Amino acid sequence: MLIENIKIKNFRNIRELSICFDEKMNVISGENAQGKTNIIEALWLFCGAKSFRGAKDSSFVRFGEKKGVTEIDFFSGGIEHSAKMIFEEKRKAELDGKNLKTTGDLAGVLSAVVFSPLDISLASGGPDKRRRFLDTSIGQLYPKYIELLRNYMRAVMQRNKIIKEYKYDPSVSIMLDVFESEIAENGGRIIDYRKKFTEKLNNYLPEIFSGLSSGKEKISSLYVANCEGTMLSAKLKEKRREDSFLGFTSVGPHRDDIDFLINGVSARNYGSQGQKRSVAISLKLSALSVIYEISGEYPVCLLDDVMSELDENRQKYILNHVREWQTFITCCDPSNAQRLSGGKVFTVRDGGIF
Ligand SMILES: Nc1ncnc2c1ncn2[C@@H]1O[C@H](COP(=O)(O)OP(=O)(O)OP(=O)(O)O)[C@@H](O)[C@H]1O
Ligand SMILES: [Mg+2]
Repeated sequence: MLIENIKIKNFRNIRELSICFDEKMNVISGENAQGKTNIIEALWLFCGAKSFRGAKDSSFVRFGEKKGVTEIDFFSGGIEHSAKMIFEEKRKAELDGKNLKTTGDLAGVLSAVVFSPLDISLASGGPDKRRRFLDTSIGQLYPKYIELLRNYMRAVMQRNKIIKEYKYDPSVSIMLDVFESEIAENGGRIIDYRKKFTEKLNNYLPEIFSGLSSGKEKISSLYVANCEGTMLSAKLKEKRREDSFLGFTSVGPHRDDIDFLINGVSARNYGSQGQKRSVAISLKLSALSVIYEISGEYPVCLLDDVMSELDENRQKYILNHVREWQTFITCCDPSNAQRLSGGKVFTVRDGGIF
């Protein structure tokens, strides 16, 4: 993947901006609150995913304006494309001049991996963050996976509605049979996808993590399914009564997790702040390699504020690691940028580039 340029109008604090990027390293530097993350966010949205800040569509439009527009020219699969995103009450996308049904249809066309400071919650927060990381990564490789996930979640919601009735009215079992078979079928496939992806992550994770921690620590990751796909149908049936009182579906991949073990000990429970940050960064960089391994193309690498809180060796390791593919990296301290040979440095001030 290669993003050649971006044009931005009335997006976040950016009034109007046009940037031609370097094929490899792009450093976006500037003081706090100038618009660095906004540029990374504008690029990331072209992957068809939601904002990594959890922002609502309406928050993208520049204050006081009605409409924002971002446009990029990029290469994907050796073909040049252009994409446009229009931000109004809702977000709309165009690819090569044609309207897309949903912005999610961009998934797989442009693929990217993003690291943001919020990703530290990958190692320390709830399991939903880790599931989302897997789902976003897998969805970029296999757009059908997103549909699978959507169908699965719809069936879970429907079961959740009906299961509450079950304790008063066991005749709803007929409907439960239907939704549970849908959950079991789609859920089993989701677990397969996620397990395979996690196994592939393990081919890269230990090396990147030990590079980041100067070789002192060992890491492994493990997909933890609360119920194996083959057992899902039986387990859902078994749990009907219990779930009826709980009011939700307590088994299935929407309750799964990934465990990270550093030197055999859970990172979530025992990891230091720096270790958790390193876990999150290595996970993202590993995902990039897995996507390359499967698709044959490097995703664009978006690193927001990755340098802060890391010592010089770790910073050097990252800059060295990302040399092969197109990378966008934000930082406050321009001396980080000066360490790089080649590439372009953009200084952001008040939503403009200098
Ligand atoms: N819809 C919007 N309209 C106008 N300004 C906005 C909008 N959304 C966010 N901003 C402003 O954009 C500014 C820059 O935000 P951004 O997160 O890109 O900063 P940053 O350069 O990454 O800073 P930091 O170094 O602190 O991470 C903030 O001051 C924020 O208030
Ligand atoms: Mg920022």
